[in-house]
Amino acid sequence: MKFFIDTANIGEIREANALGILAGVTTNPSLVAKEGVSFHDRLKEITSEVEGSVSAEVISEDAEGMIKEGKELAAIAPNITVKVPMTLEGLKAVKAFSDLNIKTNVTLVFSANQALMAARAGATYVSPFLGRLDDIGHNGVELIAQISDMFDIHGIETEIIAASVRHPTHVTDAAMSGAHIATVPFKVFQQIVKHPLTDQGIEKFLNDWNNQK
Ligand code: E4P
Repeated sequence: MKFFIDTANIGEIREANALGILAGVTTNPSLVAKEGVSFHDRLKEITSEVEGSVSAEVISEDAEGMIKEGKELAAIAPNITVKVPMTLEGLKAVKAFSDLNIKTNVTLVFSANQALMAARAGATYVSPFLGRLDDIGHNGVELIAQISDMFDIHGIETEIIAASVRHPTHVTDAAMSGAHIATVPFKVFQQIVKHPLTDQGIEKFLNDWNNQK
């Protein structure tokens, strides 16, 4: 499983990229709004920083509007992936982008059937939302496993991005359930790296080193 970072914050993106683990970035309108910057300017900054896929979401609700917006976003840089919501209009737009060789990430996926429809429309990625499913008492990780099995059975090449990742266990579970990618908030990257035994071990090694005879 590869790692994307789920943020529009350029500082977080740079820090994660410096770790050498970053295969891409996902943004969404809420994450961009939090930054209070021009969406296009921020996408230019992100795409010049990160080589991998950078998901930029359309806000139109009709296919025509999505296609117009998506074309403008895709013109910003070759590594832009147009993020499209999982709706009937979204599927029409995904098909149009696929015909234009523009990569797509179908977002707000909450069922295996939605993932199958998105894949058949030509989506490059589908993003099932783990945390938001868990929030309503469903099992987000089970959905990843189901989509993964379904795509394997039918030889579907669309990649699964585990999204709405809230804690380190989601990351392990997504990897073990067959997600190709997890898009992870910066805070969760910091949590993953940390282990109290690692910290204790470093402290002991340094103490022993400094107290040697
Ligand atoms: C995915 O691409 C979304 O940006 C994101 O993972 C949503 O996460 P949230 O449910 O924590 O808002």
